[in-house]
Amino acid sequence: ANEIDIAVIPGDGIGPEVVTEAVKVLNYVTNGGKQEIKLTYYKLGAEHWLETGETLPDETLAKIKQHDAILFGAVGAAPGDTRIPSGIIERELLLKLRFSLDHFVNLRPSKLYPGIESPLSNPGDIDFIVVREGTEGPYVGNGGSVRTGTAHEIATEVSVNTAYGVERVVRDAFRRASERDRKHVTLVHKHNVLVNAGHLWKRTVEAVAAEYPEVTHDYLHVDAATIFLTTDPSRFDVIVTDNLFGDILTDQAGAITGGIGLAASGNINMDRTYPSMFEPVHGSAPDIAGQQKADPTAAILSVALMLDHLGLSEEARSVEQAVEKEITSRQELTDNRTTSEIGDAIVALLA
Ligand code: NAD
Ligand code: IPM
Ligand code: MN
Repeated sequence: ANEIDIAVIPGDGIGPEVVTEAVKVLNYVTNGGKQEIKLTYYKLGAEHWLETGETLPDETLAKIKQHDAILFGAVGAAPGDTRIPSGIIERELLLKLRFSLDHFVNLRPSKLYPGIESPLSNPGDIDFIVVREGTEGPYVGNGGSVRTGTAHEIATEVSVNTAYGVERVVRDAFRRASERDRKHVTLVHKHNVLVNAGHLWKRTVEAVAAEYPEVTHDYLHVDAATIFLTTDPSRFDVIVTDNLFGDILTDQAGAITGGIGLAASGNINMDRTYPSMFEPVHGSAPDIAGQQKADPTAAILSVALMLDHLGLSEEARSVEQAVEKEITSRQELTDNRTTSEIGDAIVALLA
């Protein structure tokens, strides 16, 4: 088979630590087969910005566009770090990648693995996916501030929702639901207040639902959705939602399924015009960086999502099964093993 050509962006903080383990697993699971993997590393992130002043130069973006897929760790400085203003790296690197590469499906699966303790006393059988819109909403940077820093400041962040953008992500959610056992889509929005965007989402869901008679659907306002994620998370199968609601709900989804160290994601360009990007949901975790304390499982499960996207579904299942075995055998979630010991344990189960 042809070589698969991956861009690797380890980033800041725990990013490089968890990516090292993800690459270990990727190499192991593919070298056993016929698949050659080529890895090209890009040094980007807050540390790189401090050294060079660069976020994501256009020449680098052009090179990244040539790869088959991207494996991303995490970027960003500590919230209290005054050397770099909050938002520069997030907007000019991470979001620039998601927008420039048209990652309109931000896929974030949530599953409570057997043996994993949820902070909920009665979690039930949690197994849903969030299909978060990835290129629009309040994330587009459409806003500004006038009279900044005065008592008369006015700051805006305008949410952009296009019929084209909403339809393609809703369609993706219904297609994914049609391939799942329960075949159910929940739209999460806030159309009782955000009437313009909310009604566009609602109308779009109703139109697409008509094409999928086998898929049922319902609707929750985002505030109520947080209640049900706490009281009855097993009611969800596929959640489709906008960029900001999806960001918030997927951290909560990570928390109820055993912690953010297990939550994987894919930023997917379903049209395959540009490479898709796979990354843990968590950030650079400055509070534990450099200490081998990070759980690499989210990054490793992101490799499984990447393998699936690249058509290597057998390899993807192997990684998922090894991870499932490894985490169900843990005595407690935050055991005292190092990041690389957890990576090694998962590789050993692949053997
Ligand atoms: P965070 O996800 O980095 O950390 C939140 C908490 O979760 C911390 O206590 C951290 O120690 C813990 N945690 C995160 N990942 C873990 C893992 N793998 N194993 C064990 N514990 C883990 O979120 P934050 O503190 O809000 O953000 C830190 C920086 O990361 C900020 O600069 C933020 O902008 C950035 N960020 C980047 C991404 C990304 O690159 N995709 C995502 C989220 C946040
Ligand atoms: C995530 C992060 C990003 C987001 C930030 C760092 C831009 O929180 O991947 O969930 O809000 O999408
Ligand atoms: Mn987030």
